[in-house]
Amino acid sequence: MGRILVVGALGQIGTDLVTALVKKYGSDNVIASDIRDPQQDPGCAFEILDATDENRFKELVTHYQIDTIYHLAATLSAKAENNPLFSWDLNMKSLLITLELGKSGAIEKLFWPSSIAVFGPTTPKSNTPQKTITEPNSVYGISKLAGERWCEYYHEKYGVDVRSVRYPGLIGYNSLPGGGTTDYAVDIYHKAVKGQRFECFLEKDCVLPMMYMPDAIRGTLELMDADPKLVKERSSYNFSAFSFSPEQIADVIRAELPGFEIAYAPDQRQEIAGTWPDSINDAAARADWGWKNEFSLESMTRDMLKNLS
Ligand code: NAD
Ligand code: SER
Repeated sequence: MGRILVVGALGQIGTDLVTALVKKYGSDNVIASDIRDPQQDPGCAFEILDATDENRFKELVTHYQIDTIYHLAATLSAKAENNPLFSWDLNMKSLLITLELGKSGAIEKLFWPSSIAVFGPTTPKSNTPQKTITEPNSVYGISKLAGERWCEYYHEKYGVDVRSVRYPGLIGYNSLPGGGTTDYAVDIYHKAVKGQRFECFLEKDCVLPMMYMPDAIRGTLELMDADPKLVKERSSYNFSAFSFSPEQIADVIRAELPGFEIAYAPDQRQEIAGTWPDSINDAAARADWGWKNEFSLESMTRDMLKNLS
């Protein structure tokens, strides 16, 4: 077995993914990388890698005998609107470098996450199907949709074993989110455990699909472990757990912390959130490779509050 390279490893997902990969495969078999230095020991080898630097990518793949890449580096939805061309360049160029590594046979397997941001204002909003109208109107959504098409293209034309899920908003306690539209659902717990009032940047009834990080990481590893013949969707799988609005998550937090207060001051992130589905149909992931979430909003809330306390 070759080694695993995680790109963008210091972010919200990478922090938990590296821990899970090290636990599963051992610290000698996982290499974490990012464009910035780690603030704490990632538990395995660490390398600086700018994901748009093709030569550095090739150097690390050869040096460490990498056969699997988890490519997490990207600019997320809210941040991408501030610098569209930079975000497009990072999100697309880095993906194409990793797909080319797959095409050349330098690596055997690639994970690249898509997002519910591939959907847009014309998409059916509830129980959104795997295959439906995808006309995103955010820079991030456009880059994720293009990325999905490239993944399927490289799989069909060149046999690249690329696997992907459309993550919903992810919530975890080990790291802070990096500039997305769903970030409020992490920040709210940090304020709640400190006994502070939370000001939400989305409207109180804006329902979005969400997932607890332990489920997201387990599902990602299960997809990567699945028999290639079972992975029929090579663009990206709908991937779902539960949905809630800011008002609903505040009510569930209040059941644990009765004094918790929330106020609403919607900003430009509401414009993005308003174009995304309120619930996702992930029947294909469940049927093809056995995806099943374990956490609900209530059990996630108890676990988040316990761990953050
Ligand atoms: P994040 O912003 O928390 O982390 C991204 C990491 O990439 C950061 O550590 C950053 O330093 C690094 N990075 C930035 N530019 C880089 C570059 N040029 N080269 C190398 N590294 C660079 O993001 P995340 O939440 O961990 O998301 C990871 C992936 O999952 C992204 O593709 C994102 O679009 C996708 N995703 C995340 C969510 C979510 O809720 N977190 C939902 C859907 C999809
Ligand atoms: N959580 C991500 C974001 O808000 C969804 O891709 O950008």
